[in-house]
Amino acid sequence: MPDQDQLFDAVASIESPLFVGRTLGELGLVKEVSKKLTGKVKVELLLPTGGPPDGLDERLREALDGHTNSVDVDVEVMDDEAVTTWMTDLKEKSGPPIGEPGSATRTIAVSSGKGGVGKSSISSNLAVALSKKGNKVGIVDGDIWGFSIPAMMGIVNPPVMVGEMIVPPVSHGVKVMSMDYFVGEDKAVIWRGPMLHKAIEQFLKDVFWDNLDFLIVDMPPGTGDIAISMTQFLPRAQVVVATTPQPTAQRVARRAALMAAEVDQQVIGVVENMSWFTGDDGKRYELFGSGGGQALADELEVDLMAKVPLLPEMGRGADSGVPVSLAAPESEAARAFDQLADAVIEKRPRIRSNPALVIK
Ligand SMILES: Nc1ncnc2c1ncn2[C@@H]1O[C@H](COP(=O)(O)OP(=O)(O)O)[C@@H](O)[C@H]1O
Ligand SMILES: [Mg+2]
Repeated sequence: MPDQDQLFDAVASIESPLFVGRTLGELGLVKEVSKKLTGKVKVELLLPTGGPPDGLDERLREALDGHTNSVDVDVEVMDDEAVTTWMTDLKEKSGPPIGEPGSATRTIAVSSGKGGVGKSSISSNLAVALSKKGNKVGIVDGDIWGFSIPAMMGIVNPPVMVGEMIVPPVSHGVKVMSMDYFVGEDKAVIWRGPMLHKAIEQFLKDVFWDNLDFLIVDMPPGTGDIAISMTQFLPRAQVVVATTPQPTAQRVARRAALMAAEVDQQVIGVVENMSWFTGDDGKRYELFGSGGGQALADELEVDLMAKVPLLPEMGRGADSGVPVSLAAPESEAARAFDQLADAVIEKRPRIRSNPALVIK
């Protein structure tokens, strides 16, 4: 029969459903685990939010399987002051916030001159491809003209407030934040001037990303105010410019690249989307022409990191909440995203002497 220590360890090693990547033990949330004479195991938890989050009951049953088939969970919820202290500790443990000196997180902004080139599809598949390679990845849906990341990633739960921090929901191993979570019906009224700026700042700074390897940002298309506000909080971002094979798309994508240069972000590469369609006859058809991605890459003096073919599953993936990199991992498109992830990993940021950024 397991002693109390073994039972405690079994519970302490459960991954938190809310703070993904951390165990209940390292979060200091397990108060006591005891076995009654009846065989029932009582688990006493101290949680920062009301009630155990979705999935915790099941994880407890799994962890204690073989020890007991009857688990009694007793949850004590921290008061506001305790939550604040606890969250401050956790933040310290997780290192400097994204964008600040010493942060180990690489921010990759996916931008384009206009909508519809597949920016969101690229962002979500890049995130998943990086995560498949063992990286801790988050993704921000910054495109307030068309939030699509939560749907593409299959997010069902909203973020959770813990103290003053926003804990993002997780899907396919990727943490997902969208401004869509915070805007009501009256979007157009909210997103103006300083309020917009403030909202974006809060959005990026008050999210508890917890020491990511990569933060992918699906940028708003174009070079307007919103794109500039986003970039102000991502001074060390590296930019991947998305484009399609035709020359017009290339022209607008080029504007996005020039803007990145203006705000001192490093453009690390180009990704061309919808490059060809492979027919049932096995032949590649270049429906939108060819050469746009390479021409843009040449002009920007960066690599063409990947060419992503047109794939009907990709449209379906957008609806089903499973990106093609997971839904059809052997497909040409998934292989292209895998290649894109490798190319991104390779482009470690160059050291900057002055990362400070001033926007007038
Ligand atoms: N390579 C592709 N093959 C098939 N459909 C694609 C591909 N890339 C994007 N799509 C589809 O095109 C539409 C626009 O893509 P999206 O990623 O939302 O573009 P953006 O974010 O640039 O507006 C979506 O319906 C998406 O599923
Ligand atoms: Mg989009």
